[in-house]
Formats: sequence, C-alpha cells, structure tokens
Amino acid sequence: MGFALNHFLHFLLLCLSLLLNHQSSSNSTATLGIEPSELRALMELKSSLDPEGRVLSSWAVGSDPCGFEGVTWNEHGKVANISLQGKGLIGTILPSVSGLRWLSGLYLHYNAFGGEVPRELASLTGLLDLYLNINNLSGTIPEEIGTMASLQVLQHCYNQLTWSIPEAYPPSWVC
Ligand SMILES: *[C@@H]1O[C@H](CO)[C@@H](O)[C@H](O)[C@H]1NC(C)=O
Ligand SMILES: *[C@@H]1O[C@H](CO)[C@@H](O)[C@H](O)[C@H]1NC(C)=O
Ligand SMILES: *[C@@H]1O[C@H](CO)[C@@H](O)[C@H](O)[C@H]1NC(C)=O
Repeated sequence: MGFALNHFLHFLLLCLSLLLNHQSSSNSTATLGIEPSELRALMELKSSLDPEGRVLSSWAVGSDPCGFEGVTWNEHGKVANISLQGKGLIGTILPSVSGLRWLSGLYLHYNAFGGEVPRELASLTGLLDLYLNINNLSGTIPEEIGTMASLQVLQHCYNQLTWSIPEAYPPSWVC
C-alpha cells in the first residue's frame, strides 16, 4: 500500500516536472527529461503497433509524454508499462520494442496484432508481465522467452502460436 502510494506520488511528480519543463521551453524533446532514445523507440513502435495511426496519435514528439495513451513512465523518465489492451489495434510487434529497456509490463491483449513474437523481447531483463493473448499472432514463441528470468506472467493463448519448449513451461504462463 505504502509502496503503491509512493510510486503514484513519484509518477505525479514526474508528470508535474515534465509539464513545467514543457511549458518553459519551446524545445520540448530536449527539455522533457525523457531520453531521446526512449522517445525514438516509442515512435518506431507506434508505426508498427498502429500503422494506420488511428489509436496512438497522442504518441507524438513534442507532446506531453504523460498524455501518451497507455504509456506509464517510471520516476526516471523511462517507459515502464505499455497498456493497450482492447484498443482494436491491427499492427505488428517490431523487434524495436527491445529498445525500451526499462519496460516491466507489456499489455497488448484483446487486439488483432499479426505477425510473429519478436525474439528481441527476451533482451528486456526487467519484463515481468507479457500479455499477448487474444490476437492473431503466428509462428513459434521464441525459445529465448522461455529462459527469461524476470518474466512472471506470459499470456499467449487465442493466437495461432505454437510452443516449442513445453518442459520449461512455468505455471504462471497461462492463457
Ligand atoms: C532542440 O534541441 C535539439 C537538441 O539539443 C537541437 O538539435 C534542436 O535544433 C533544437 N530545436 C529547436 C527548435 O530549438
Ligand atoms: C506497471 O504495471 C504493473 C501492473 O499493473 C503495476 O504493478 C506497476 O506499478 C506499473 N508500473 C508503473 C511504473 O506504473
Ligand atoms: C490473421 O493472420 C493471417 C495470417 O497469418 C491472415 O491471413 C488473417 O487475415 C488474419 N486474420 C485477422 C482477423 O486479422
């Protein structure tokens, strides 16, 4: 409880400082306190997750990052969570998602994502939650994802995915 509140306050403070920075200068990307590489990775991801640009228009360089739909920042100004469940997205998940190195939760369920699950996801050493269920993903879930030490929950069912390492299937990896 205390931890959650503390976390929330951190987030509020971050948003406030980002907002103040934003208002005090016209050169937003340089002053937002967000690393250009985080922003670049997000923009690259945006074009794959939402190629038609219908849902993620709030993800824009120069906009207030606290208003980016479904994006939660940690207290260091890094992307912590991406929550885009049930948004009607029809894109794909590019390997560039691994550029968001502090990602702890990726919630992409209840959409219509196609293509394969990028093996580069396995390089996200802080990833705890990966929700891919109820999409149109195909191919094999990369073996590397089966060896991720951090991953606590992997929801993958209701796709066209196959799974090559049933022996290593931890109980928390569910539908
Ligand atoms: C904003 O800052 C960046 C990096 O410092 C610089 O390259 C760019 O020219 C600046 N843009 C404006 C409009 O001042
Ligand atoms: C990311 O999402 C998880 C699960 O909802 C939550 O516990 C965690 O606090 C979130 N992280 C941030 C920085 O909001
Ligand atoms: C699902 O993906 C397959 C290709 O793997 C494609 O032919 C099909 O149209 C997709 N279905 C939907 C509902 O997007």
